[in-house]
Formats: sequence, C-alpha cells, structure tokens
Amino acid sequence: MTKSVLITGASQGSGRATALLFAQKGYNVAIAARQLDRLEAVAAEVRARGQQAIALSTDVSEAEQVEALVNKALAEFGQIDVLVNNAGVCLTGSVEHMTLADWHQLIDVNLWGYIHTIHYVLPQMVQQGSGAIVNVGSFGGKMPLPNMTAYCTSKYAVTGLSATLRLELSGKGIHVAAVHPGVINSSFMERAMFRGEDAQKAGQQRDRMGEMLSQSWVSQPEEIAQAVWQAVDQRQDEIVVGPAAIATEAYRLLPGLTQWALGRAT
Ligand SMILES: NC(=O)c1ccc[n+]([C@@H]2O[C@H](COP(=O)([O-])OP(=O)(O)OC[C@H]3O[C@@H](n4cnc5c(N)ncnc54)[C@H](OP(=O)(O)O)[C@@H]3O)[C@@H](O)[C@H]2O)c1
Repeated sequence: MTKSVLITGASQGSGRATALLFAQKGYNVAIAARQLDRLEAVAAEVRARGQQAIALSTDVSEAEQVEALVNKALAEFGQIDVLVNNAGVCLTGSVEHMTLADWHQLIDVNLWGYIHTIHYVLPQMVQQGSGAIVNVGSFGGKMPLPNMTAYCTSKYAVTGLSATLRLELSGKGIHVAAVHPGVINSSFMERAMFRGEDAQKAGQQRDRMGEMLSQSWVSQPEEIAQAVWQAVDQRQDEIVVGPAAIATEAYRLLPGLTQWALGRAT
C-alpha cells in the first residue's frame, strides 16, 4: 500500500517543498492551507510526480475544519502514515503593543493548529501501531529572539509538545520529531504581523526582517523539506536546520552570554 502524508501550510514555502519531496519519495499527499488556488497548484505538481494528491482549504485554527480534513484524507488514502504540522504565522514587535487578539491569532495557528491535527490523526495512528508526526518549530523554540516574545512562546510550546508526545508515544510505534528552521527564504516575513508604537516603528521592524532574507546564511524551503524527510526516514528526534544550529547550541551552552549578546544586538 502506498504510504501517505498529511501536510499543513503546504500551499507555499517549506510546506510546498515538503509535499513535493514526499511525492518524489513515493508518498500520496494530502495538503492543507486556507488559499485553495495555491494548494491546487501544489497538488498538480504532486500529481505530475506520479502520486495522488488531495488539496483541502482548511484553517488549522478551526477544530471542525481540521476534523473534516483528516476524515477526507483517511477516506481517500485509507491511512495517514506521516503528519507534518507546518502551518505557521509570524508576529513580531514590542509586546506592549500587541493586542490580545494578536496573541490569540498567533497561538491559535502556531499551537492550536498543531494540537488539532494531532488530536484527530492520533487515534488512527495508535490503532495501526505506526506513524510519524513531525512538528515544524523554529530556532525561536530553542532560544529567545528579540522582539519575538509571542512567536517564541508559541514555538517553545511546540518544542515541549514534541518532546513530551515523543515520550508518550514511543511505546506505541509512533515517532514524534521536531524540525526547527532558522530564517527561511519564503514569503513568511512578507505576511508577518509587525507591531510597534507607531506605523513607522513597525515599518522599520519589517525592513530589518526583510534585509535578513537577503543574507547568504538564510535556509531555502527545500532544506526544511529535507530535514522533515530525514526526521521521518531516520527517526530523528530533533533537527535544527542550517546555521541556526550554531546559535541554539551557543544558547544551550552559554545562555547568559548569548542573551547578553542578543540584548546588545538589539
Ligand atoms: N520563514 C521563516 O523564517 C521561519 C523560521 C523559523 C520557523 N518557521 C516556521 O516554518 C513553518 C513554515 O514557514 P514558511 O516560511 O514556509 O511559511 P510561509 O511560506 O508563510 O507558508 C506558511 C503556510 O502556512 C499556511 N497557513 C497560515 N495560516 C494558516 C492557517 N490559519 N490555517 C492553515 N494554513 C495556514 C499558509 O497558507 P494560507 O495563507 O493559504 O493559509 C502557507 O501555506 C512555520 O511553522 C514557521 O513558523 C519559519
């Protein structure tokens, strides 16, 4: 039986790259995001690689929509072998300028979006006694990043979710991994929410983040896809992608010094 993967946030960026890589590896692919036209284009690329694809417009922050997504994938493919939680949004700026609605929007997608898929996929994985769940986190889930309190809160939660779920499911044949990208050359920052004391400050923050994307050390979406594949194929627990691994290791070994350096840099 052909294996299948369910990937959220797969209409572009690293989710799209992951869908195409899994298709290349022989998986049927179920993909979700909100914009159906973009998703359909990715599904067509998957089919061009000889695999089946279903594309479902889904807002992962809505539990009922995720339940429908999982049911549709199961009806189509019989089982889900791999779940890749990847849909995410970015919120940056000083925390005193964020509204509670901002916080809710971020946590609803970056954390609840992951909990929803796990909740609906898990019973079937437990029943079949096998499967893999890969949660795409961030280096901001391994170390604090300046002006990213809300985002890092959501990603630290994903780190905790992944580690604890791995412990719980290891005896049930289900592998849980976390893949933590550094900065990715995707349109993530273009769609990020920037907050500041005024529009000018928020704009400056946006410009700074935009400049970062032109640096040579920025990861490509295909590198994230490779890391997700590696986590599944080699049952790796945690991968920090690219040069971000140096920063997270520095923080692990020398948290005080790293935090001091980050403070000075900002
Ligand atoms: N880009 C970075 O620098 C960076 C760094 C570290 C970690 N990450 C993490 O890597 C993951 C992928 O990032 P990326 O750079 O590939 O992002 P991206 O290019 O902006 O793609 C994000 C995807 O998530 C989908 N999405 C957003 N909100 C959604 C919602 N409510 N429901 C369903 N889908 C939703 C988007 O499609 P729709 O808008 O159509 O819904 C899109 O397909 C995220 O978890 C992100 O936090 C990114």
